[in-house]
Amino acid sequence: MDPPSSSFLRVFLYLSSFGAIFFVSVQAFSIREASISEIQLAFKQNQLTSRQLTEFYLGEIRRLNPVLRGVIEVNPDALHQAVKADRKCKAKPNGSLPVLHGIPILLKDNIGTKDELNTTAGSFALLGSVVARDAEVVARLRRAGAIILGKASLSEWANIRSTKAPNGWSARGGQGKNPYVLSAATCGSSSGPAISVAANMVAVSLGTETDGSILCPASFNSVVGIKPTVGLTSRAGVIPVTPGQDTIGPLCRTVSDAVYVLDAIVGYDYNDGATREASKYIPQGGYRQYLKAHGLWQKRLGIVRDPFFDFTNNPSQALAFQKHFRTMRQAGAFLVDNLKIDNIDIILNSTASGEAIALLAELKINLNAYLKDLVVSPVRSLADIIAFNQKNSKLELTDQIGQDIFLASEATNGIGDLEKSALLNMANLSKNGFEKLMMQYNLDAIVTPGFEVAPVLAIGGFPGISVPAGYDDKGIPFGICFGGLKGSEPKLIEIAYSFERATKSRKPPSFKP
Ligand SMILES: *[C@@H]1O[C@H](CO)[C@@H](O)[C@H](O)[C@H]1NC(C)=O
Ligand SMILES: *[C@@H]1O[C@H](CO)[C@@H](O)[C@H](O)[C@H]1NC(C)=O
Ligand SMILES: *[C@@H]1O[C@H](CO)[C@@H](O)[C@H](O)[C@H]1NC(C)=O
Ligand SMILES: *[C@@H]1O[C@H](CO)[C@@H](O)[C@H](O)[C@H]1NC(C)=O
Repeated sequence: MDPPSSSFLRVFLYLSSFGAIFFVSVQAFSIREASISEIQLAFKQNQLTSRQLTEFYLGEIRRLNPVLRGVIEVNPDALHQAVKADRKCKAKPNGSLPVLHGIPILLKDNIGTKDELNTTAGSFALLGSVVARDAEVVARLRRAGAIILGKASLSEWANIRSTKAPNGWSARGGQGKNPYVLSAATCGSSSGPAISVAANMVAVSLGTETDGSILCPASFNSVVGIKPTVGLTSRAGVIPVTPGQDTIGPLCRTVSDAVYVLDAIVGYDYNDGATREASKYIPQGGYRQYLKAHGLWQKRLGIVRDPFFDFTNNPSQALAFQKHFRTMRQAGAFLVDNLKIDNIDIILNSTASGEAIALLAELKINLNAYLKDLVVSPVRSLADIIAFNQKNSKLELTDQIGQDIFLASEATNGIGDLEKSALLNMANLSKNGFEKLMMQYNLDAIVTPGFEVAPVLAIGGFPGISVPAGYDDKGIPFGICFGGLKGSEPKLIEIAYSFERATKSRKPPSFKP
């Protein structure tokens, strides 16, 4: 758990949405950069209400979002939810309330909510569609007391519309910006969740990953991203890409915040078959018990230098990782260096591995099923979306960006021999590549810079955690990724939390041009 931080000793409660500074008490509290445990303590000590917190974030969204474009919609019901949370808090002063009680969260716009918010994957094609029910992860967040603050932006359609689509751009959200260096990449497809927590427009957020969509924006925006084992979090009610790889996970400023959100969203859901198998991994008492200061002690960490540690163009990153390796050793970790993943060049090439073949066929099947299940929708199939983009070329920038992935997916015809053999090939690549390496060297995790390991984890449904690891010469953030075997979240959390405590790399954004 987080120790009480120095922000408690500050004398002011600063609420920029009121344009004023509030003198509260000697033990006042700063919302900016506050963690969930700090916020909960401030609730308990009557220094802060959920309503004040929510008003602060709504103000910051008004102030920053015209430039950053991390948010597509705010929830008109958010303040009402916060007031209700405060009332509940008052009725239970000694609180056995869940840890997310009164905490505002933003959801990537492909995560369905049954409320006034739209769920559109950033596209005008889905505007006005009505979902049958909350996504299972949203239902769990509401039960845990979270305030649904709104929908975060994304690379449109989770980046499966076109190979020419800019990362972090959607027709409804505009171009998301990196809050550290506005001209730098923000990465995607969970760009909005990463931008929004990085810039303190919200407390915590939820994203999705098919291949790199949590790990990459986490790395570029200096936040923590957890990509859970596929099936640990239900995909029901989330606009799908492919069931073999899609997973829902938190993007937050700290490992402990991300773990609190993870605890709230994991679990069995009869609307997502994969959760049956994966729920066996969920530990009694949840994941927060693995927030251990000495979590690196006696961990075996694998280092695959080729091809992941090529720093020829980035000496500052090379230096940072040398330092991080020393820190890990000093914390009692055992680093197994110069390892190889068999067939890594094939695994990282989505054409060669079979990933692209399987994804194209799965996308059509699963997206059509999602669209059919909607209560109301202007589009009912991938073919309808393609026609919408053609017809609304100005709105969706179709002439510039195109929709080549959609067209290729529409041309597929179910899971035939080609797709079956692609799926088998991916399973075989994982078994004889990453899994073999992890077993052979008895590793707890592999350590890689940035997000480039994403396909290794994606094709096998393996988990990964990205933690802030530094800033390059231009001030652009980079992360470190810890990846492990299915269900290894407890170990990954121990490692990530302990690494975060030892390095404390994250800084609030600087908004450089
Ligand atoms: C709450 O805790 C305080 C002391 O911490 C105690 O005096 C009080 O009786 C408790 N109230 C309830 C309702 O448990
Ligand atoms: C959802 O979209 C409709 C347009 O179809 C718009 O009127 C409404 O304001 C949107 N909801 C929110 C919460 O922004
Ligand atoms: C990826 O694999 C395909 C098919 O095996 C091959 O044609 C292509 O050259 C490869 N791409 C790279 C960058 O190696
Ligand atoms: C699986 O991979 C191994 C080693 O990479 C290879 O020898 C074998 O032929 C593959 N099997 C199939 C069914 O593709």
